[in-house]
Amino acid sequence: MMLSSLSAAAASLLLASSVSAQKSLIAPKGAEVLTVAVFGDYGWTGWIPAPDHFCLEVMLELQAANITIPNELINDCDPGDKVFVNNATALQTDTANYIGQVCTMKNCSAILSVGDNFYDSGVDFTTGGILRFEEAWVNMYSQGVFRDMPWYQCLGNHDIVKGTAGVDFETKILPYYDDRWNFGTTGLPYWTYDLVGSNWTATFVVIDSDCFLSSYQKNTSVYFNEYTIGCHKNTSVQIDFLNTTFSNSKADWKFLQLHHPYMSSSTNQTDLAPLISIVEAHNGIVLNGHDHCLAHYVNNNTNFILSGAAGYPQGGDCNNGIPLGPYAKFLAANNNTAANGLVTMDISSTSVDVEYYVRDMVFINGDLYPVSHDLMPSYKFQITQKST
Ligand SMILES: *[C@@H]1O[C@H](CO)[C@@H](O)[C@H](O)[C@H]1NC(C)=O
Ligand SMILES: *[C@@H]1O[C@H](CO)[C@@H](O)[C@H](O)[C@H]1NC(C)=O
Ligand SMILES: *[C@@H]1O[C@H](CO)[C@@H](O)[C@H](O)[C@H]1NC(C)=O
Ligand SMILES: *[C@@H]1O[C@H](CO)[C@@H](O)[C@H](O)[C@H]1NC(C)=O
Ligand SMILES: *[C@@H]1O[C@H](CO)[C@@H](O)[C@H](O)[C@H]1NC(C)=O
Ligand SMILES: *[C@@H]1O[C@H](CO)[C@@H](O)[C@H](O)[C@H]1NC(C)=O
Ligand SMILES: *[C@@H]1O[C@H](CO)[C@@H](O)[C@H](O)[C@H]1NC(C)=O
Ligand SMILES: *[C@@H]1O[C@H](CO)[C@@H](O)[C@H](O)[C@H]1NC(C)=O
Ligand SMILES: *[C@@H]1O[C@H](CO)[C@@H](O)[C@H](O)[C@H]1NC(C)=O
Ligand SMILES: *[C@@H]1O[C@H](CO)[C@@H](O)[C@H](O)[C@H]1NC(C)=O
Repeated sequence: MMLSSLSAAAASLLLASSVSAQKSLIAPKGAEVLTVAVFGDYGWTGWIPAPDHFCLEVMLELQAANITIPNELINDCDPGDKVFVNNATALQTDTANYIGQVCTMKNCSAILSVGDNFYDSGVDFTTGGILRFEEAWVNMYSQGVFRDMPWYQCLGNHDIVKGTAGVDFETKILPYYDDRWNFGTTGLPYWTYDLVGSNWTATFVVIDSDCFLSSYQKNTSVYFNEYTIGCHKNTSVQIDFLNTTFSNSKADWKFLQLHHPYMSSSTNQTDLAPLISIVEAHNGIVLNGHDHCLAHYVNNNTNFILSGAAGYPQGGDCNNGIPLGPYAKFLAANNNTAANGLVTMDISSTSVDVEYYVRDMVFINGDLYPVSHDLMPSYKFQITQKST
């Protein structure tokens, strides 16, 4: 176990807990068909933005005096997110209930996160971080079907604003805090796990895509910190990890699980190309979030499943429902809004059946995204071409 970057207090907690050993829950093995839920971009509840007086006045004075403002505070002044926070918090709760209904109906056995677990600047190993973890995750997803559900976790851009302190808290500490929070056992932000059925296996590789984006290496970016600087220099570590894991796996299905989109209706993150070419070489499947909507894209014979709609949906992220090209097979958005929802995958030896559950988006001022039976999938497709 790597203790070097942890504080003495964190280290002593880790040592104390390691006596009882961290035991993250995993999905049951041996099913003929295993159903999992995929979603991300959800963790709004309990976020308290920085106050206007600081953001609009004090911060400018400090900047004029050449005083460095912590990225976390700049991010907590994000004007868009400040406008969204009240609705976003309510929508996270409504969507958690909706996911609970869908997953009860479909008998989900695990949740696969595509990141952005805690807006706006992540969580760290402080009382504040623990309170946010309890509020936005532990208590949000605790009832009914969620009670014993393993979550296979992944980092998004909001999770890394605090740098190494935020990354370590989610990857090294939280697995001890709650058995449902599975980040593997290596304490690293990239990791792999298998889901094992009666006569099939699926290999998942989780990558921290934050490390790949050159835009995050600008010194004006709120994502520019010692963690992203280090792992950006080191992207070959994650590329090799994906390549080696996929090459050594004989699984029927191979998935890349990460936050940012290579295929998108708003920004294609082409910096991810080295990862995608490995997925293509193995006939793999990509699961991602970041765009706050649900979509299905196909590029170069590869399926991209976007499920970033468990918090604050944004129509523009799915180009208001208008396909930019034949690669866009489904977009859960219209001129008014994108819709909340999730993706389920029924994995078996013969196919991966992918279903998009899209919530009827009723607002005070009308039904902005009408779905007549929102416990039926709005869209589905089937993958039968096995990975290699
Ligand atoms: C739900 O899925 C689990 C895991 O595959 C299985 O063991 C269980 O029998 C299923 N329950 C129902 C009611 O289908
Ligand atoms: C801040 O730094 C800039 C460039 O380094 C310099 O031109 C300016 O005089 C400094 N301002 C103050 C108030 O120190
Ligand atoms: C796996 O088991 C199921 C159920 O017995 C069967 O229908 C299917 O053909 C098997 N798949 C393979 C690849 O043997
Ligand atoms: C930020 O980067 C720019 C250009 O890359 C450079 O000119 C500037 O000095 C840098 N600022 C700081 C504070 O490092
Ligand atoms: C790069 O990764 C290697 C292997 O995981 C690690 O030993 C090294 O410290 C990393 N370097 C940076 C700058 O993060
Ligand atoms: C992946 O590994 C294979 C050998 O197993 C190697 O030939 C190939 O160049 C590697 N690809 C990348 C993108 O690293
Ligand atoms: C993303 O790539 C696809 C396929 O090359 C292209 O059709 C589409 O316009 C791109 N999307 C954006 C937002 O640039
Ligand atoms: C499509 O896949 C081929 C073969 O795997 C690869 O050489 C090519 O670069 C890919 N093209 C795009 C646009 O991703
Ligand atoms: C958006 O509105 C325009 C005209 O107001 C219409 O032509 C278009 O089909 C609408 N798009 C969607 C996705 O609803
Ligand atoms: C918040 O929700 C209300 C009620 O549905 C809606 O009228 C308003 O436009 C929403 N505000 C934002 C910023 O989305």
